[in-house]
Amino acid sequence: MAIKKGNILSIFGVKGGIGKSTLVLNFAGICEILEKRVLILDLDLYGGSIALALNKEPKKTIFNFVDDYNNNRYNNVKDYVTNYSKYIDFIACPKDPRQANKIDSKYIEILLDKVKFNYDIVLIDTTHILDEININVLDKSDKILFVVSNDMFDIKNMRSLISIFKDLDIKKYKILLNESFRTDKEYFSLYDIKDVIKNNIDYLISSKFYYKNIDELIINGSIPTLNKKTPSLKDYKILESIILDINGDQNE
Ligand SMILES: Nc1ncnc2c1ncn2[C@@H]1O[C@H](COP(=O)(O)OP(=O)(O)OP(=O)(O)O)[C@@H](O)[C@H]1O
Ligand SMILES: [Mg+2]
Repeated sequence: MAIKKGNILSIFGVKGGIGKSTLVLNFAGICEILEKRVLILDLDLYGGSIALALNKEPKKTIFNFVDDYNNNRYNNVKDYVTNYSKYIDFIACPKDPRQANKIDSKYIEILLDKVKFNYDIVLIDTTHILDEININVLDKSDKILFVVSNDMFDIKNMRSLISIFKDLDIKKYKILLNESFRTDKEYFSLYDIKDVIKNNIDYLISSKFYYKNIDELIINGSIPTLNKKTPSLKDYKILESIILDINGDQNE
């Protein structure tokens, strides 16, 4: 019997601070609810937040994987994985940003080839820069979720990104408009945004998903979608339908 490979899903955007990492955590929480094994790979190599947000001290990080692989000390990919809950694992970013310089994208490809058979979904948290690592990661991903905020510069830069993908005839992306990380910035209508980026907006996370107590959740290492105290649990149905849609499970 063939072993089923998990989908590699990258969350990418062209602006920092627009809720990408929070979405990654929330999607992982939905995977836990759906009993799907999920690995979060923190590729914000210089300043990732996943281990901190989950309040877990990783023994080893992606840097140790690269270092061990390079020096013939590599044994098993599980050595670099930190467990969070029954269905959620993560691989942390380097502890020291100086280690990030030593991570070549070819090792990330090797790492992805090793982990994808152990999970139903591999969720990759990225930075907002289209550097060599991110280009390779996006290439390697089965699906990409572009996150855009309701911000003039972000929308303009998203238009450029989409046009690059259209030029390359790459269609494996979906676009999510995230209005949940602040409540005071909804200048442009959906119509305006679609018109500027010349693409459909596939998903919208509205400011209803703004969590006033997010810092408290982070300090406690709690994922909002798994926390009963967070408001409007029924709205998580939207996140659930996004992850099922993008993962191609909608008709299962
Ligand atoms: N739904 C939300 N409700 C309240 N605050 C939020 C929400 N989503 C994100 N935030 C806050 O907004 C800030 C940016 O979020 P986050 O770190 O997820 O964005 P990011 O795009 O990953 O940023 P970076 O580019 O720095 O990696 C954080 O302080 C986070 O706690
Ligand atoms: Mg982030």
